[in-house]
Amino acid sequence: MSTDSNDPSGQGLARGLTNYGDRDFALYLRRSFARSMGYSEAMLARPVVGIVDTSSGYNNCHRNLPEVIEAVKRGVIAAGGLPIVFPTISLGEVFLTPTSLKYRNLMALDTEEMIRAQPMDAVVAVGGCDKTVPAQLMALASAGKPAVQLLAGPMLTSGYRGERLGACTDCRRFWARYRAGEIDKAEIQTVESRLATTAGTCAVMGTASTMAAIAETLGLALPGTAAIPAVHADRLRAGEASGIAALEAAKNGLTPDKLITPKSVENALTVLLAVGGSTNAVLHLAAIAGRVGIALDLDRLNLLSDRTPVIVDLKPTGQHYMEDLFAAGGVGAVLRELKPLLHLDCLTITGETLGERLDKGDGWVDRKVVRPLNDPYLPYGGLVALFGSLAPGGAIFKRSAADTKLFEREGRAVVFDGLEDLARRIDDPALDVTPDDFLVMKGAGPTSASCMPEAGYLPIPTKLARAGVKDMVRISDARMSGTAFGTVVLHVTPDAASGGPLAKVRSGDRIRLSVADRRIDLLVADEELVRRPLPRQARPSRGYDRLYAREITQADKGCDFDFLRANPDFP
Ligand code: FES
Repeated sequence: MSTDSNDPSGQGLARGLTNYGDRDFALYLRRSFARSMGYSEAMLARPVVGIVDTSSGYNNCHRNLPEVIEAVKRGVIAAGGLPIVFPTISLGEVFLTPTSLKYRNLMALDTEEMIRAQPMDAVVAVGGCDKTVPAQLMALASAGKPAVQLLAGPMLTSGYRGERLGACTDCRRFWARYRAGEIDKAEIQTVESRLATTAGTCAVMGTASTMAAIAETLGLALPGTAAIPAVHADRLRAGEASGIAALEAAKNGLTPDKLITPKSVENALTVLLAVGGSTNAVLHLAAIAGRVGIALDLDRLNLLSDRTPVIVDLKPTGQHYMEDLFAAGGVGAVLRELKPLLHLDCLTITGETLGERLDKGDGWVDRKVVRPLNDPYLPYGGLVALFGSLAPGGAIFKRSAADTKLFEREGRAVVFDGLEDLARRIDDPALDVTPDDFLVMKGAGPTSASCMPEAGYLPIPTKLARAGVKDMVRISDARMSGTAFGTVVLHVTPDAASGGPLAKVRSGDRIRLSVADRRIDLLVADEELVRRPLPRQARPSRGYDRLYAREITQADKGCDFDFLRANPDFP
């Protein structure tokens, strides 16, 4: 075995030696310390599969990872490798402030560098919660090692008075009912205890499930693994198989850049549209693609959206849950249905093309959940990009989860200057607002101090909610949870904190929304806008906040750090 850390023929623990100026000494020392962990010489001579462990007491969605990781280790050992588990940052969606997106790039950087710095021939990245999968896919794309993405899997649903409950579309549905005075405190507390009852990621087509479907479509997660529930025995078998596949990918030199290509990214967009997936996935896919030098074109998203119907009946767009999609045939059933719209020559981690993969299997599909292409759930794709004077760099709109009656209209802006202003005034009985107004929040984009939280689903003002108003046009530079629904325009780019047009909107201005024309326009004369001053923002002086403020890109570039992209704007 070569002891040269730069020698590509070196494998396993001989890779990437610590620099003491004496390579033989470095390997001798490394083996000696590895032996202190009780490995035999034979084990230490094996190729190494690193396993990224994102278990954390702050991440309920990853509660099953210890068992899943044991299964991955089993697979690696059975295939002749040495599994070595290592921890990275874990991002539990609801345990982070101000928002998990702020730390996605930090997790991606941690994961990329630990894959690069430690000796391994391949890697299995185990994650699931909203930001962990995009962070890991970004890291895998940049680290350049043969890699498999293994998902935590979705939660199972629970029940409440004869209704199925699953995080987190039902979380929002019941909260809206509570705000409207339809249910009382005791009832909402009971619901709170039943929304999330097993390990795993949110039970609907939220960001986690959307990113799982995208990981399988890109070919980085093994076929058939995205939708397996977290607590199902198949999830453990997927773990075993992922360990074996990682070792095989190492033998074949199958690195992520061979899987993440313009064609596979377009396939991922098609799947995102067809499953009625999360708006966040547009952001994450732009960041993942940007790691290998591929730009995500929002005009192309619109073209794809016009030809790609929503074929999956899952919340928040439809009625079912992820466990139903698994039983209905999983992401494979969706991909099979979409075959005429996909690039079938894309490689997957098994070495097969997507087309070869889809030619296998029994073809079982439950048509209640996965509809045929010629009889879809909705005739058009779930998402569109809007452009116009309010969003020259684009905005994202989830038309599959919005009220079509609100798609073509002009309204008076009722403006909130950031999250604190929103919290202070939204329920004020004196707020000057009608159901026909457009609620606008600015100062919640990627360059703001709040770091683009999932706050774009502005609550309906209590006085309107109690009068029966269920939806209004809402516009912001923030994001929205993939589990939410409503006529909500998000990711307005450039954001207000960077001086985009949104910064200049005032209450009383008129705004026109046309989903048909893909437009969002501020109907204020240029001469008037020039007179309006831009807000000033304090710059953080140190630490991660400073790095974030200096390097964060806008939503159209996926909010990645510029220096982590394959083609940074400022090299
Ligand atoms: Fe982890 Fe929803 S909170 S996936």
